[in-house]
Amino acid sequence: MATFLYITLITFLATASAVNGCPPSDRAALLAFKADLHEPYLGIFNSWTGTDCCHDWYGVSCDPETHRVADINLRGESEDPIFGKAGRSGYMTGTISPSICKLERLSSLTIADWKGISGDIPRCITSLPFLRILDLIGNRLSGDLPANIGRLQRLTVLNVADNLISGEIPRSLTNLSRLMHLDLRGNRISGRMAVLATLNLDANKLSGLIPASLFNSGISNLNLSKNAFEGYLPDVFSAGSYFTVLDLSYNNFRGSIPKSLSTASYIGHLDLSHNHLCGKIPLGSPFDHLEASSFAYNDCLCGKPLKAC
Ligand SMILES: *[C@@H]1O[C@H](CO)[C@@H](O)[C@H](O)[C@H]1NC(C)=O
Ligand SMILES: *[C@@H]1O[C@H](CO)[C@@H](O)[C@H](O)[C@H]1NC(C)=O
Repeated sequence: MATFLYITLITFLATASAVNGCPPSDRAALLAFKADLHEPYLGIFNSWTGTDCCHDWYGVSCDPETHRVADINLRGESEDPIFGKAGRSGYMTGTISPSICKLERLSSLTIADWKGISGDIPRCITSLPFLRILDLIGNRLSGDLPANIGRLQRLTVLNVADNLISGEIPRSLTNLSRLMHLDLRGNRISGRMAVLATLNLDANKLSGLIPASLFNSGISNLNLSKNAFEGYLPDVFSAGSYFTVLDLSYNNFRGSIPKSLSTASYIGHLDLSHNHLCGKIPLGSPFDHLEASSFAYNDCLCGKPLKAC
């Protein structure tokens, strides 16, 4: 009887650890990922020991059903108490190992604000079919965005702002139909733009004409400031237009401010300054609260809040 109980218990424990534990392949991939990184101040990787990567490995979480690694969330700025000793910010060097791509159920990858992580974004990242969030803001990543990034059909967030990424915006980005937040600002990305969905492309070196569809695509925070966009602003706004931010400053836009902009239901922050616009500023409620600075440094704009025409 005792033997039977003992065997049952062993079987139970073995089953429990196989069910709840982290698959050895995921664990190996995480350890290979860790091996290419160096984080000496906080010691967050000290917690990445033992066999069960699903429990108490800092920043790692597993899917409760599949028990595969689903999220990696490593932020150099965090409210976590572990950050208290480093004055609430961390520093990490090294590179992002392609072994990350072996975590085939990965849904969210955040490696943000570590300031020192360099090298390329692994090309193989586009083979992670479940990836929804890719947030690599605030590192020193270089190289270009993978050309076939459009393969990440589930991607909703792509944030690579404040890195050293160069090259062109991949055409395949237009295939990311679920993308809700795209932030490429503060990089060296250049090239003409195809039709894109939602974005923050400020402070890159983009040029060319803006597709009209960009202004009525449902993006509410559109910052194209400090690029080299040119041409006329399309007259495509309507009562369905809603912008918390519409920042088109520091480009080469010319012509007049589209009349339809005054029909927009809401424009929180509008900045058209530092372009080559001319003509009368439209009247209407979205313009009532705007200050002269929103229109300054153009060729010949006039009317409220600037001087009368
Ligand atoms: C977008 O997706 C379609 C259908 O999957 C594919 O044929 C096309 O080549 C893709 N475009 C780009 C630029 O990747
Ligand atoms: C838009 O981007 C520019 C350049 O990065 C920045 O200076 C500006 O504050 C941004 N505008 C808004 C409204 O956030």
